[in-house]
Amino acid sequence: MHTEEEKRNCTTGTIWLKGEMGHVKPGFVVLVILTSLVFIIAYVYDFSLMPVTHTLTWFNIAKQTKLYNVSEELSGKKNVWNFLINQTIQTTTTVENPIASVSTEPKSILQYIAHPSNYHFILDEPDKCRQWDPFLVFMVPVAPHQVEARNAIRSTWGNESSVQGKAVLTLFLVGLTGGPEAQQKLEEESRQHRDLVQSNFVDSYFNLTIKTMVIMDWLATRCPQASYAMKIDSDMYIGLENLMSLLLAPNTPRENYITGYLMWDRPVVRNKNSKWYVAEELYPEPKYPTYLLGMGYVFSNDLSGKIVEASKKVKAFNIEDAYVGTCLKQLGIAPSSPPDPSQFRAYLGQYKREDFLRVITTILGSPQQLIDIWKDLKKPT
Ligand SMILES: *[C@@H]1O[C@H](CO)[C@@H](O)[C@H](O)[C@H]1NC(C)=O
Ligand SMILES: *[C@@H]1O[C@H](CO)[C@@H](O)[C@H](O)[C@H]1NC(C)=O
Ligand SMILES: *[C@@H]1O[C@H](CO)[C@@H](O)[C@H](O)[C@H]1NC(C)=O
Ligand SMILES: *[C@@H]1O[C@H](CO)[C@@H](O)[C@H](O)[C@H]1NC(C)=O
Repeated sequence: MHTEEEKRNCTTGTIWLKGEMGHVKPGFVVLVILTSLVFIIAYVYDFSLMPVTHTLTWFNIAKQTKLYNVSEELSGKKNVWNFLINQTIQTTTTVENPIASVSTEPKSILQYIAHPSNYHFILDEPDKCRQWDPFLVFMVPVAPHQVEARNAIRSTWGNESSVQGKAVLTLFLVGLTGGPEAQQKLEEESRQHRDLVQSNFVDSYFNLTIKTMVIMDWLATRCPQASYAMKIDSDMYIGLENLMSLLLAPNTPRENYITGYLMWDRPVVRNKNSKWYVAEELYPEPKYPTYLLGMGYVFSNDLSGKIVEASKKVKAFNIEDAYVGTCLKQLGIAPSSPPDPSQFRAYLGQYKREDFLRVITTILGSPQQLIDIWKDLKKPT
C-alpha cells in the first residue's frame, strides 16, 4: 500500500528527488513522459504554425512551371517537387502571381487550382440526371486512353440501369487527352455511349485530386437529384445488390454519410521515391485524418457540394482520398464504418464465387477479369 503522500509524489514525478530506491523507477518514468509531452506539444505547435506562414502550394508550383524554364533533366527526377518548391519560394515574393491576383484574399493558390471552378467541361452530360433521375450515380475517374477498362465496365456493372427497383447511372470522368487525334477518338466514344465527362485539366496521377474535385462539382451541379453517389476506380468490382441493400437499409443516413474502406491514423509518406509522396509544403502534419480508401467510397450526394465548398478552405495536395478526408474533417463529418467492413475489400485473392457474392467492392487485376467474373456470377446456379 502506498501512503497518500507517496501516491501524490508518484503522480507529480518528484519522488526520485527523495532518492528512495524503491520509487526511483516509476517516478523517473513519469518525469520522462512529462518531458516528452512538452516536446511533442512544442513540436506539434511548431508544425501547426508552418502552414499559416506558407503561401506555397503544389498547384502554385504546377503553375510556376509554365513561368520558369524547368529543364528536362530536372523535371524527370524524383526531386523535381523539391526543386519546384525552391523555385516557388524564390519567386513568389517577387513575381506577381497570375492566380493570386484573381482573389481579394491572400489565400493559398492551390485551392484556386484544385477547386473545380478553375476548370470547365469539354464533354458533358448536363441533362443525363434529369432524364434518368438516378438514385445512385457511379463516377469513375479514368485516363482518356483506358478504353478497355471503360468497355469492361459498360458491359458489366456499368450496364445496369436499375438495382432493386432504383435507377443507377455510371459516368466516366477524364481530363485532357494527349492530342487532337486522341481527342477525336474520345469524342466519338462519347457520341456512342453518352457516358463521358471531360474537364480541361492535365490528366495525370499527380492530378487525381483535381479529378475527384471535378467529380464532386459535376455531382453537385449536374446531378443534385441523386440520393447517393460513389467514386469508384476503373479496376473495381461492385456487388450492386449488396451495395443497394446497404443504401436502402433503414438505418443508413440520407445526409452527411460516407462509407467505404476506412483508413485510420495513416502517416503521410515522405519518401520521395514513393508514388504517395507528399511534400511537407503541401501537407505539413505527419498524419492524415480518418479517410476512406480511394478505390471506392459511397456517400450521400449532399456531400458532393459540401466537399467542393470545404475545399475552398483546405489546401489541396496530391492524395485524393486523404484530401477528401481532410475536407470532411473541415466539415466536421466523420466517415462511417460500414455495417460489415469486410464487404469493402482491397483484394480477395483467387476468385471464389461465394466471396464475390458477399462483397460490395474489391480490386481486380484486369478489365478481362471483370468481364469473366461478371459472367460467372450471372450464371444461374
Ligand atoms: C528552355 O531550356 C531549353 C534547354 O535548356 C532551351 O533550349 C530553351 O531555349 C529554353 N526556353 C526558354 C524559353 O528559355
Ligand atoms: C532546395 O533548397 C535547399 C536550400 O535552399 C537545398 O538544400 C536543396 O538542395 C534544394 N533542393 C533542390 C532539389 O534543388
Ligand atoms: C447491356 O445490357 C443489355 C441487356 O440489358 C444488352 O442488350 C447489351 O448488349 C448490354 N451492353 C453491353 C455493352 O454489354
Ligand atoms: C495538373 O493539372 C494542372 C492543370 O491542368 C497542370 O497545370 C499541371 O501541369 C498538372 N500537373 C501534373 C503533374 O500533371
